[in-house]
Amino acid sequence: MTRVVVIGAGAREHALARSLGPAAEVIVSPGNAGIEADGIACSRAPAWELGAELVVVGPEQPLVDGLGDELRARGVAVLGPGRDGARLEGSKAFLKEFLSSAGVPTARYGTFDEPGPALAYLETMVPPYVIKTDGLAAGKGVLVTSELAEARTDVADKLAGRSFGRAGTRVVIEEGLEGFECSLHALCDGRRVAALVSAQDFKRVGDADRGPNTGGMGAFAPLAAVTGAAVEQVMDLIVEPTLAELVRRGIDYRGVLYAGLMIGPAGPKLIEYNVRFGDPETEVLAPLYGSELLELTYAAATGELVAPRPVRGAAVTVVLAAQGYPGAPRRGDVIEGLGADGQLGTPLEGVSVYHAGTARDADGRFVTAGGRVLAISALGPSIGVARERAYAAAATVSFDGMVMRTDIAGKVTP
Ligand code: AMP
Ligand code: GLY
Repeated sequence: MTRVVVIGAGAREHALARSLGPAAEVIVSPGNAGIEADGIACSRAPAWELGAELVVVGPEQPLVDGLGDELRARGVAVLGPGRDGARLEGSKAFLKEFLSSAGVPTARYGTFDEPGPALAYLETMVPPYVIKTDGLAAGKGVLVTSELAEARTDVADKLAGRSFGRAGTRVVIEEGLEGFECSLHALCDGRRVAALVSAQDFKRVGDADRGPNTGGMGAFAPLAAVTGAAVEQVMDLIVEPTLAELVRRGIDYRGVLYAGLMIGPAGPKLIEYNVRFGDPETEVLAPLYGSELLELTYAAATGELVAPRPVRGAAVTVVLAAQGYPGAPRRGDVIEGLGADGQLGTPLEGVSVYHAGTARDADGRFVTAGGRVLAISALGPSIGVARERAYAAAATVSFDGMVMRTDIAGKVTP
């Protein structure tokens, strides 16, 4: 293996590039200022022009648009499904129909294009109400509320295209699930799947899960409650039946199948699938697997799945976001505390700084250039130590308007 291309421009791709890096030449397309400063090549050339033996696709949109098919047609191994498999993430209505034929436990739901039937169905539900846009909305298309009035307004706004434009003119209304959330990433080679260690993402912008949903404000891995037999249960009830249904439909799924789960009293239920690595989950998974990630991803992409080795220790990542996130973020604020390589000015044990929305100004200083700006990840022998390291590192970095949750991996569930 000589050359790997990672598609994307965020902290997830930075984390992937660092772990894939030691044994391969990695190019991130398009990458960002912080990835480049870290000594990793970035290029805007189309992926097939970069001479890669393996392409790892970070974001969902290129997969939904068919990048996986395009690359495979040119003989390149890709970690990421084709357009057919990507529909699991690209359309919530498709997902729900798929899950019922696969027999995968999930929330009861209805799909609607018209306000009348949608509002009538809503009246039959009990709180919390869950309203989703059908299309892709960067993790922000979901409302979970116990207020019926708010739910009604949201349904009307989404159907009228006021919230997410065309992505939002069909809604899924579903039963609110109880329990704790867990992200389980499985690598799939078209015929077999193997789970990576469990992780948890913190989706709300504010401490104690207050405020709107975001792309994710932090994560940790592993979850003490989702190891061993609990992982096997999820594989048996949810992931394996999904693979069987993919095979039944003739879909050759080679990529990451990331199950967003609610683990409750009635066992695990699937909230959603993502067809790629989670962000910020990758910022804990990639450092935990380290250089093994290259073998794992190449094996899945080429139909020769290998089982991941058990990981040692734990990882925590804390996202530093710009003022305004998850709405329109403020840009151009100078980031203090980083060295010329974009890592901590004062290095700390076990810590990596992954760049998401950063750029460099005319003086070469790092400035904010997106909603999520940095993900600060730390490895440690336990969640507690990793958490202390991540927050100690985050305390050395600052910019005007910086938004950070202080409770990532604090109350470790359950
Ligand atoms: P999604 O985009 O489907 O992952 O939803 C975003 C977030 O909304 C999830 O991570 C959950 O926190 C929450 N959520 C989605 N669906 C449900 C549900 N049926 N019950 C409870 N919470 C949900
Ligand atoms: N961590 C949520 C996502 O990647 O969609």
